[in-house]
Amino acid sequence: MVGLRTYIAGLEMPNPTMLASGILGTTADMLREAANAGAGAVVTKSVSLKPREGYPNPTVIQVDCGFLNAVGLPNPGIHKFIDEIKRLRDLNVPLIVSVFGFKPEEYAEAARLAVEAGASAVELNLSCPHVKGTGAEIGQDPEAVKLTVKAVKDCVDRPVFAKLTPNTSSISDLARAAASAGADGITAINTVRAMAIDIETFRPVLANRFGGLSGAAIKPIAVRCVYEIYEAIDVPIIGCGGVRDWRDAVEFMLAGARAVQIGSAIALEGLSIFKRICEGICGFLERKGFRSVDEIIGLAHKK
Ligand SMILES: Cc1cc2nc3c(=O)[nH]c(=O)nc-3n(C[C@H](O)[C@H](O)[C@H](O)COP(=O)(O)O)c2cc1C
Repeated sequence: MVGLRTYIAGLEMPNPTMLASGILGTTADMLREAANAGAGAVVTKSVSLKPREGYPNPTVIQVDCGFLNAVGLPNPGIHKFIDEIKRLRDLNVPLIVSVFGFKPEEYAEAARLAVEAGASAVELNLSCPHVKGTGAEIGQDPEAVKLTVKAVKDCVDRPVFAKLTPNTSSISDLARAAASAGADGITAINTVRAMAIDIETFRPVLANRFGGLSGAAIKPIAVRCVYEIYEAIDVPIIGCGGVRDWRDAVEFMLAGARAVQIGSAIALEGLSIFKRICEGICGFLERKGFRSVDEIIGLAHKK
């Protein structure tokens, strides 16, 4: 019998799959449903200090190999969202609260309140490709990433994961900056900045014009990012981007990920995807003669 149990920065997960941020993670009920369906951990929708309205429609469209979204990080603000966090104190898997802000202090205060309410860990969304003042201005600047992670680390006593953007010339530099400030894990990646144009109306399709590409289209980019980060730093990595089945999950682990997050594929296949991926990983490990999922992490780097 092979083992899927794994640990990230001391967080015990029954298996290495997680619900990605922004997918169903807006209420306690939906997060609980994902956990009951077999997710090894769940990440909430990103929450800021103050409430925020999203962009007008259309905000999400399906494209050839994934989705394009510019939702605009709508959320009720951490003071309100705390009620959802508190309702999940008995959750049987880690609850990771995703936070964002427009200055390091805003990230820190949102993270502090999330942890006080019961979050097992926080994930810093340093990577939204379509909201001005956060993903690009903070997330693409290694110094700003460092300051933000440091500000959060200084005021919470739970693991802090930095979710990085692929919209940069060197994701390794961002990862090094996050690690140097004490990040306990790196999530890679958020969506890839992209757009679509309607050829009949001659107009960009998304109301915000630019958005983030997710789904199968970005998997090779995400695998490359995980591989590069694994070579750059010695901090656990959570792979994200285009995971649709157990093969994708295994590929991310061979590149160096300790766990994988699943987002877009849930919209297409539903929550049963968690169990299917776990069964597939087990079958793979058995077939290859491994006893635990930890044994395959980073194997693609061994010469
Ligand atoms: C509709 C939508 C909303 C998202 N909202 C967030 C968010 O609030 N915070 C965040 O860090 N990532 C957000 N993401 C990005 C996902 O968490 C994930 O990084 C990305 O979609 C790549 O994974 P996937 O290909 O499995 O979807 C969102 C993605 C989508 C499609």
